[in-house]
Amino acid sequence: MDYKKIVAQRIKQLVDLEIETIENLIEIPPRPEMGEFAFPCFQLAKTMKKAPNMIAKDLKEKIENQGFEKIECFGPYLNFFLDKGVFIKNTIEKILEEGENYGSSKMGEGKNIVVEYSSPNIAKPFHVGHLFTTVIGNSLYKILSFEGYNCIGINHLGDWGTQFGKLIYAYKNWVDEEALSKDPIKELLRIYVKFHDEAEIDPELNNQAKMYFKRLEDGSSEEVALWTKFRDLSLVEFKKLYEILNVKFDSYAGESFYCDKMDEVIKDIDSKGLLVESNGAKVVMLEDYNIPPCIIKKSDGATIYATRDLAAATYRKKTYDFYKNIYVVGKDQALHFKQVFTTLKLMGNDWADDCQHVAFGTVRFADKKLSTRKGDVIFLNDLLNQAVAKTLEIINEKNPQLENKEDVAKKVGIGAIVFTYLKNHRERDIVFNWEEMLSFEGETGPYVQYTYARAKSILRKVQQTNSNSGTNVELDYNKLNSKEEFELVKQLEGFQNSIMYAIDNLEPSMVTRYVIDVAKAFNKFYTQHNISNLEDESNKKAKIKMVEATCQVIKNALNLIGIEVVERM
Ligand code: ARG
Repeated sequence: MDYKKIVAQRIKQLVDLEIETIENLIEIPPRPEMGEFAFPCFQLAKTMKKAPNMIAKDLKEKIENQGFEKIECFGPYLNFFLDKGVFIKNTIEKILEEGENYGSSKMGEGKNIVVEYSSPNIAKPFHVGHLFTTVIGNSLYKILSFEGYNCIGINHLGDWGTQFGKLIYAYKNWVDEEALSKDPIKELLRIYVKFHDEAEIDPELNNQAKMYFKRLEDGSSEEVALWTKFRDLSLVEFKKLYEILNVKFDSYAGESFYCDKMDEVIKDIDSKGLLVESNGAKVVMLEDYNIPPCIIKKSDGATIYATRDLAAATYRKKTYDFYKNIYVVGKDQALHFKQVFTTLKLMGNDWADDCQHVAFGTVRFADKKLSTRKGDVIFLNDLLNQAVAKTLEIINEKNPQLENKEDVAKKVGIGAIVFTYLKNHRERDIVFNWEEMLSFEGETGPYVQYTYARAKSILRKVQQTNSNSGTNVELDYNKLNSKEEFELVKQLEGFQNSIMYAIDNLEPSMVTRYVIDVAKAFNKFYTQHNISNLEDESNKKAKIKMVEATCQVIKNALNLIGIEVVERM
């Protein structure tokens, strides 16, 4: 039941505004004493030629109030107070009936959304920034799919470009095969860095690298075999991380996939008269948009990153006929995407407007020791391993008898990192702080997961003691008449709303904030009300249903941000 819709319909019967306009105007009052919904009358003042206060009064007289506890005026606002008993009953029953589908809808049915995320670079470390795009993209994929969109998750691997010529040269001259098999990315990075050092001394190396890249582009078997080896080795490492994080992709079509698709795009750009010569390079001028030109071909004829993105977007439109094509990439690439999208638009592609850069901020560490090793691939494994180890320590302290401690520590520890990434607006920079991140109190992953486990333990306890008593007593939702209970159920009811905000802003943090609020509301209830000692069976039964519903909502919400719940911790 969508109460906001009901409120809007009631108002619609009395005023001359579109239903959507009314819905957009409706606000959530800042304090519970002011009801659940408020309609501001300012906008009507002009057409009705009356003061907003008077309009609110008039509306109050005429409006149908069935189903509401009361409807009252607060100055220029008309405020709606839900009939709490009905509201609580409807909400809890709906949650328990819909279970893991609670909060979902078919709103996106028939619409394809391409979600590009992760996209690390072959032979280079998967760094904390890549972890950021990975968790945001994974969450958006889940949220959009939950609302019925057909998502295509793409890992646009950085697996092409002149750097592979350098890497081939470096490999042929300096590789340590043993080190390579032990830690491939580390060794590839070492020789890649060595190439840059050596090329400073002897610039001729750059020509060698160019030659190798040319041979690779021309399909020479030796170079292709080496490139394939680099790619395969890197993918094995990346996939280990995806496994730990439980992240999946529908496609690994990276930059190399577009090698044979660029000519057509370049021809297209040229045929539209957009290709301009500039210092030997071929570019699309974008000065009308106040941005630097988009380089299509370098002076040596090599294509670049942007060209591959133009080909990729075109390919995605053809293949998936997307409703939206979103790129979860750091905000430092904002200009790049502006150039690419503007070029696509200039080429006459209206769908360029459906492409969107979903940017995010940078990541730092409060712990200095860690930050000096930033960028190191080991570091990322370290980060995950440490999170798990530290969580295990905490569990050993708090609950040494717990079964499956390792498994719980894994879910909670990794969950703590994911939660930290998704807790704030994605464009905000993040500072990792172990103590804060792993704390069972405050706005953390462990806090929410602990709340869930605690609620579950309440349910286990009452089920044990209750199995033979009170079976004939009807549950009575009217007994849930405390402020804490109403506030909790109100939160539970707002799940889908938070998802809608998350979709509108492509912002998983809306769901993360939401689940924090649910956990807080539950803990407020729990500190005030005892369930297992309750004599009144009809009340007890209603409370149990409410706790079950709370668990369901926390589970669904955490799932949308890529975190698994644990039953005990
Ligand atoms: N591989 C790039 C990097 O690590 C990110 C790719 C972003 N996606 C794109 N379509 N350009 O920085």
